[in-house]
Amino acid sequence: MHRRLDFITAASKEHNVDKDELVIRISLNKDFKKNDYGEAIFYKDDGEILAAVYPKMGRMVVWNASVPFIFKPPAMSYVQAQFDIVVKITTSKEKAEQVIAETKKLIEKSKSRTLKEHSPFQTRVTFLRWTSVNMKEKPFDGQDEEHDNVSWIAMLQVKDFVTSRLWKIVKQLATYLSGFDEWYPYDVSMNIIRNSHYPRIHEDCEPSEHEYTFLMYLTPDWEANNYGETAFFEEVFTKDGTPFPAGKQQYEWIASVRPRYGRIVIFRGIIPHSARPPSPGFSGARYTFACKVSRTYRLAISKALRETLEYVQGESEDSTAAYNILNKLISDDDTPALPIKFIEEKLEHYQRKRQEMYEGFQSSTVEQLTVTKGPVKDEL
Ligand SMILES: [Fe+2]
Repeated sequence: MHRRLDFITAASKEHNVDKDELVIRISLNKDFKKNDYGEAIFYKDDGEILAAVYPKMGRMVVWNASVPFIFKPPAMSYVQAQFDIVVKITTSKEKAEQVIAETKKLIEKSKSRTLKEHSPFQTRVTFLRWTSVNMKEKPFDGQDEEHDNVSWIAMLQVKDFVTSRLWKIVKQLATYLSGFDEWYPYDVSMNIIRNSHYPRIHEDCEPSEHEYTFLMYLTPDWEANNYGETAFFEEVFTKDGTPFPAGKQQYEWIASVRPRYGRIVIFRGIIPHSARPPSPGFSGARYTFACKVSRTYRLAISKALRETLEYVQGESEDSTAAYNILNKLISDDDTPALPIKFIEEKLEHYQRKRQEMYEGFQSSTVEQLTVTKGPVKDEL
């Protein structure tokens, strides 16, 4: 995956390449246009350009691995990521087996650890790296205007998280700030933001909801010049005192928090906020741990169910049932609250559905890419 602003080092001959090794690149973005860049450039020994290949959807390029090359990142105007599959092949069975074994080892390592085995500070970056290797869910990369547009690299299980030491800290903080002591998480994730990302100002909850969001910054040695602040805003209204229409809201900046390794920030979910991307001069990533909490267990599982239903609704074969539950969860009328047992069962059911959707997406993608007959379908 490449994004605009990526610094990509040209592959040179020094990289332990045997002369009979090949590299294959298959491009996966179907909406690339003329000025979106993203081409593969091949160089002669004297540094002059030998050839450049445009990344057309499904196009496969094969070259000898001893040829220096670079994948140009997409243009600044191309806000989505550029995806491709890169395969390196060798005639040395020994070399292939060694690389496969190393990769398998890394994946196994990531599977064998759970969040609760770590203290809050051991968790940090090591855990992030492992979970990103073992990433089961694709990072968000859409263009939904309402979305915060933060890419998460791992969604953590709430039931695991509530047994961790970190949860005790989050709960104590929320209790200290609010006076309520029944807080429960409904969304726990590891997020990543790079300088090519474009996070948006958003709220984490509705005005009627009493929620907190807890963040912990996880990139070591963060310099002030790397930017990447969490910025907080106040919504500005029209002269009549009414909000500007959706999508055209106006904001004034009120505060921001500078990331530091291990620093935590907790804030009311209703405050408009946005992660700011790191400086263009910083090529690393801004990692955060994020946890959103509701005032009671019931509210937390209701919110989790609502968000899951919003995701699967329409995709699920029982979409009418999903729609009805969603309506009950968001209705303001006087209908009696749904029983906790019912919410728990539905949450488990629809989270499983969501997982099946992800797995279905992954397996159909792999199937289409590895099919032995016929061309790669354009739906990719
Ligand atoms: Fe947020």
